[in-house]
Amino acid sequence: MKEASLMATSQKKFSKSKCGVHGTWVIAEPLWGDSGKGKFSEFFGQQADMVVRYAGGDNAGHTVALKGKEFKLHLIPGGIFNPKALCVLATSVVINPFALVKEIQQLQENGIKISQKNFLISEDAHLILPWHQLRDGLGEKARGGEKIGTTGKGIGPAYGDRTMREGLRVRDLLDTKFSEKFKREAEWQMKLIRLMGGDESSLDVTKTLKDLKSVTQFLKPMIANTFEVIQKYQQKGKKIIGEGAQGALLDIDLGGYPFVTSSHPGVTGFSIATGIQHKEVNKVLGVVKAYSTRVGSGPMPTELQDKICEHLRTVGHEFGATTGRPRRCGWLDAVAVRYGAKVAGIDSLILTKIDILDQLKEVKICVGYKVGSKKYSSIYTAHPEWMAKAKPMYTTLPGWKQDTSKVRKFSDLPKNAQKYIQKIEAVIGLPIEVVSVGPEHQQTLLK
Ligand code: IMP
Repeated sequence: MKEASLMATSQKKFSKSKCGVHGTWVIAEPLWGDSGKGKFSEFFGQQADMVVRYAGGDNAGHTVALKGKEFKLHLIPGGIFNPKALCVLATSVVINPFALVKEIQQLQENGIKISQKNFLISEDAHLILPWHQLRDGLGEKARGGEKIGTTGKGIGPAYGDRTMREGLRVRDLLDTKFSEKFKREAEWQMKLIRLMGGDESSLDVTKTLKDLKSVTQFLKPMIANTFEVIQKYQQKGKKIIGEGAQGALLDIDLGGYPFVTSSHPGVTGFSIATGIQHKEVNKVLGVVKAYSTRVGSGPMPTELQDKICEHLRTVGHEFGATTGRPRRCGWLDAVAVRYGAKVAGIDSLILTKIDILDQLKEVKICVGYKVGSKKYSSIYTAHPEWMAKAKPMYTTLPGWKQDTSKVRKFSDLPKNAQKYIQKIEAVIGLPIEVVSVGPEHQQTLLK
């Protein structure tokens, strides 16, 4: 695969810098996702021996741009473009086997080699099957005006089954008694669907079983005890990247419940899925956009509904990579980033899409919330009822009115852009190590 081996010069320089991958790194997000983890999983994945996706399912949409070509990944880690890296779907990922096979085949059609030599799937991961998507939709319908705004991929029902110790796992596909297990499971799922007022006749269970058998033949060589493989890589001191999905404000425990996903997008999720503990992780990089976006329901204190929002959405192509939904857009919420960074265990930041602000006369950063008469510069909850009352307090800085997408050195960024970045660091209290001015490798600036 040409793209795979064409590592841009910036990447080579990067590996010599202080940002050269060593030990175990995790790439996570402090807010609501969609900030560009895909670019950095691929970018750092070029230096890694292993890239592990540790949470979520095909609700994620990671965009990778290589030499003008765009790839949309939903399950497969960005490390797949490095032919020397072993990519892993770890235990806590929920896997729609049909979506996975489709994604593998699409990448293969584009010349990317994928086999058990560079891609493994945890035998303990739970499966997403068509009834989970049906239940996801029924759940949303039942919530009426209180919809979560899920991606409809069956994430919540699949994780729900896992917590109830129901559902089927990847290892079941290999079981000689799979057909019996599947039929038993199907009966249980049909009962649930009927209880939810759904119409189970839209599911063709016999066909699903037949299709699963051919999917299993395809995936079988890649199914493994990934815990063992990951542990052995770690013991040998190999370079490991953990690729997160979604963002910390969508964390099932510390996010804005119930407007959350069903997993742990931060370093906690990585530890649960891999057995590599937080204290053994050398760096947690948080990817955050130079402005904020959210898809789905739930409060977003800096959300705008004006020309600035339109500008951010249009120039920034802010449409969901998985569902195509327009994203809600607003100024960078540094208060929420600080909270999310704590939840995700983030040590330093990558600031992406600063080029989208290039044309603006002035730029704003949310540095505090006003709730009633009280002012907050730090928050200790993402509880939606409380957050919905938060009025953002902004600091306004002059814009830079210059094209940054062709800048190749941090020090060459317009002075006002540098001041904006410094202000973000000061408010959040974390260093920004990398600034991204576009999707390609060479649009990656070291600070
Ligand atoms: P679910 O994960 O499909 O159950 O959706 C729950 C919430 O998480 C919804 O608000 C989704 O829009 C949001 N969500 C899920 N995956 C992503 C993602 O990859 N990026 C951004 N938001 C996401």
